[in-house]
Amino acid sequence: MGSPPAALSGPVLGVESSCDEMAAAVVDTDGAILSSEVHDQAEVHRPYGGVVPELASRDHLRAVSTVVAAALAKAGLETKDLAGVAVTAGPGLMGSLLVGLSFGKALAYRAGLPIVGVHHLAGHLAAAELADPELRPPYLGLVVSGGHTALYRIHESEPATTLGQTRDDAVGEAFDKVAKLLSLPYPGGPSLARLAEKGDETRIAFPRPMEDAGLDFSYSGLKTAVALEIEARSPMDETARADLAASFQAAATDVLVTKAIRALDEQALSRLAIVGGVAANARLRERVAEAAAREGFHASFPPLSLCTDNAAMIAAAGARLLARGERHGLDLTAFSRVRLDEAPWVAPASGARG
Ligand code: KG4
Ligand code: ZN
Repeated sequence: MGSPPAALSGPVLGVESSCDEMAAAVVDTDGAILSSEVHDQAEVHRPYGGVVPELASRDHLRAVSTVVAAALAKAGLETKDLAGVAVTAGPGLMGSLLVGLSFGKALAYRAGLPIVGVHHLAGHLAAAELADPELRPPYLGLVVSGGHTALYRIHESEPATTLGQTRDDAVGEAFDKVAKLLSLPYPGGPSLARLAEKGDETRIAFPRPMEDAGLDFSYSGLKTAVALEIEARSPMDETARADLAASFQAAATDVLVTKAIRALDEQALSRLAIVGGVAANARLRERVAEAAAREGFHASFPPLSLCTDNAAMIAAAGARLLARGERHGLDLTAFSRVRLDEAPWVAPASGARG
């Protein structure tokens, strides 16, 4: 690769479009968020009860230039003031990824800026680091989103080590599916959490899948147990629905807490970051805070605005890569599937697979 490019500092534009949010943000190398714009597509997908990939790509194409322009304007910057561009290169929906990636590349090309591709999950973890100066490697990263449920050991500079992951559904996916079974409005996870607030979580003893074994997760059995329970109890009044939602939420989040404590113990780590959309869940946040106080570890959650998909997290992760001299060329491509332990970023030269 020749001699490494010089380390670089200054504002970095982040672009994220891996799923159904078009987001752009500017973050300085010192971690200050100068702007963070998110255009969500809930209205587009609501009639279908889930993300429709082709509609997501088309809406990204409509929104991308406006969202990027707004992020620059709110930061009070023009492209010539930027030090670099960071874009999500994977994992995610291919059509969605390509919109942000192509736009980011065109902007970098036009302005003569360096570009780096960022792994979406490295972005989620960077959000936690951005918000909490006490969170520094080595630490345990629990990623809980619509597509991922995994535990990682996060190192200073080498790729993360995967300690455990889901064998079937992701926890956010389970929230979304149970919400759909209860005919709750899309997006399901937050709707289900709201209904659960009014319920008694001790009402139904749902299974805590694989709670006693290892660090892997499984959510498809829990989802089936909930479906059978709904069938057996229907028609349900509002109280019964709230009790069922609360009981599901308790089972789904208890497993996360148990496994995180086990991993901290096994890995002799004292810091935990919980990131991704499900990290916005109030019950999970409460239970983790209780466990941290009881067991004496440091727990870190990004603020709610940085839990679900956003571009500040991508800019922050990208700024770090750029600051240590990382560069990806204009041949940077997108990866629908790429593991975080293959590389913390996605670069063609890293051998990452699509
Ligand atoms: O990180 P994210 O925005 O997108 C992915 O990378 O998947 O996570 C979205 C997921 C969805 O499954 C959504 O239902 C879930 O996070 N989610 C929640 C809550 N807010 C979002 N799940 C439970 N409780 C919440 N408050
Ligand atoms: Zn995400």
